[in-house]
Amino acid sequence: MKVIKVKDNETMSVKAAEMLSATVKRLAKPVLGLATGSTPKRMYELLIEQYKTGDITFAEAISFNLDEYVGLGPNHIGSYQYYMNENFFNGINIKKENAHIPNGLATCLQTECDIYEQQITEAGKLDFLVLGIGENGHIGFNEPGTAFDSRTHVVELTPSTREVNARFFERTEDMPKEALTMGLATIMDAKEIILLVQGERKAPILKEVIHGPITEDVPASILQQHPNITVITDLDV
Ligand code: PGA
Repeated sequence: MKVIKVKDNETMSVKAAEMLSATVKRLAKPVLGLATGSTPKRMYELLIEQYKTGDITFAEAISFNLDEYVGLGPNHIGSYQYYMNENFFNGINIKKENAHIPNGLATCLQTECDIYEQQITEAGKLDFLVLGIGENGHIGFNEPGTAFDSRTHVVELTPSTREVNARFFERTEDMPKEALTMGLATIMDAKEIILLVQGERKAPILKEVIHGPITEDVPASILQQHPNITVITDLDV
């Protein structure tokens, strides 16, 4: 794993935006994998700025988000569709039909997962995937114990994830118990990955991910086997 040490969130975001936009400029039809959470927010702002100055276009881009909560629609402030619209999609020219997020309101969740996986395959797999990491080592919502050969699937969120993410909801009990997520094998199929990790509370897990054993107990540890991954972090590793 290549590691780029940066001094703060701003430097991390500038570097991440630079790498993502290089892919978008290089490819005629870039297929992007996108993450939510606090970590990539500034990167999205920088990309919107680049789009507004005419430096980059997303007209031909296709995107697939990593995950979505079960039971939340696009108008729910806690949904990832809402997050993406607010923080990125509404500020750029990606075609709405090309910006994919699993549908947490689907009547058959497993069918929704299968269709999502198929759409990623038909798009030719992800050219460039942005990842964050949870304090328990999850990527997307692949919680500890998820099989390395998993594809897009329904997950039951762990108590620790529900606790950490409850901050995005008005009341703790509003926090969903399930989500849809790309699987670890789907993630590993991406041609290039950046893993953004910021803040001391992620230091123990990042050390484990980079130096520890590759184990399903630490889902992100599988990334050690990815041929083209860059970790961008303000932490010493
Ligand atoms: P965060 O979330 O960016 O809000 O820390 C990362 C994650 O849980 O994957």
